[in-house]
Amino acid sequence: MRTTLVRNIASLVTNDPEREDGPLGLVEDAALVIEGERIAWAGRTADAPAADDVVDAKGRAVVPGFVDSHSHLVFAGDRTQEFNARMSGRPYQAGGIRTTVTATRGASDEALGANVARYLAEALRQGTTTQETKSGYGLTVEDEARALRIAAEHTDEVTYLGAHIVAPEYADDPAAYVDLVTGAMLDACAPYARWVDVFCEKGAFDGDQARAILTAGQAKGLLARVHANQLTYGPGVRLAVELDAASADHCTHLTDADVDALANSATVATLLPGAEFSTRAPWPDARRLLDAGATVALSTDCNPGSSFTSSMPFCIALAVRDMKMTPDEAIWSATAGGAAALRRTDIGRLAPGARADLAFLDAPSHVHLAYRPGVPLVDEVWRAGRRV
Ligand code: NIG
Ligand code: FE
Repeated sequence: MRTTLVRNIASLVTNDPEREDGPLGLVEDAALVIEGERIAWAGRTADAPAADDVVDAKGRAVVPGFVDSHSHLVFAGDRTQEFNARMSGRPYQAGGIRTTVTATRGASDEALGANVARYLAEALRQGTTTQETKSGYGLTVEDEARALRIAAEHTDEVTYLGAHIVAPEYADDPAAYVDLVTGAMLDACAPYARWVDVFCEKGAFDGDQARAILTAGQAKGLLARVHANQLTYGPGVRLAVELDAASADHCTHLTDADVDALANSATVATLLPGAEFSTRAPWPDARRLLDAGATVALSTDCNPGSSFTSSMPFCIALAVRDMKMTPDEAIWSATAGGAAALRRTDIGRLAPGARADLAFLDAPSHVHLAYRPGVPLVDEVWRAGRRV
């Protein structure tokens, strides 16, 4: 197989735990050898082996492609008016989801597919090489299955979120909607999905309903992840831990018991600062989670309601400025952390054997992602060993 040497990297984030220099496994004056889709070697340029082709990184920094483990890209329309109203003081409520459900049901397959492709391309330009995405704006058997089928045409990390809110048709009988989500809708959706998710929140699903939905999905072979403790304190985080969910997402309102449960589990705490930014909510306490020993991931939550950004660099900058993460912690969480939240070991790191997903920064160091907020520093992206 043909090999490519990328040399003259000012600083390389490997996230390789085998390296001694911290969780980022940082290498200066670095080089990478890519063989086919994979990393074959990483180290200092001076020690690099020969390869068939040579690429000069020209003193740029290289980081693993971002792993965005939480987004909602299968939707139509937007919610500009709702955002405007919020910025004039109105609170964010789960009910706004209904606006997007109406627009999404009315859209053609082609329109939804084009939207997914558009936002994935937007994310890729900003360095995201793995993107999870969810259903949740269909809320009928046909519309949820269609959303997942379209999502699966674009990404491998697809999540069934029939339990986003109770479908409007079932407003008077939520128990019947839970039966649908755990029955016919699950049967239609499971073939397209890897994950099952539920919005466990006041105004969406309570702890008992969430447990029924997640365990039904698990019985069908899906792995669990949970929208937990976003708007209020609640049972979501502890349920995620109890069911060995890969991730509890949002984690904005946590008790000490929630933090403790996360710290002593394999469930990743996925923080979504775009949502707090865009809903003017209090920031999740990343410092408290990290200091307790929890694994933290950062993701965009890209959706038209609570967080209409596809930018991992923006989320990194928010996490550093407002959530008291160090730049190193934030970069780790946006790459290796996201991989952990997807239970993947082949992405989120640039070590031998990993998929060659990389972002070149127009900067000498990964720290610039937080230090130069809003600046489009990602100027070249490779996925599976190929420049895209
Ligand atoms: O993660 N919390 C639930 N779902 C989304 C919001 C979806 C919407 O407002 O349309 C979220 O923030
Ligand atoms: Fe979400």
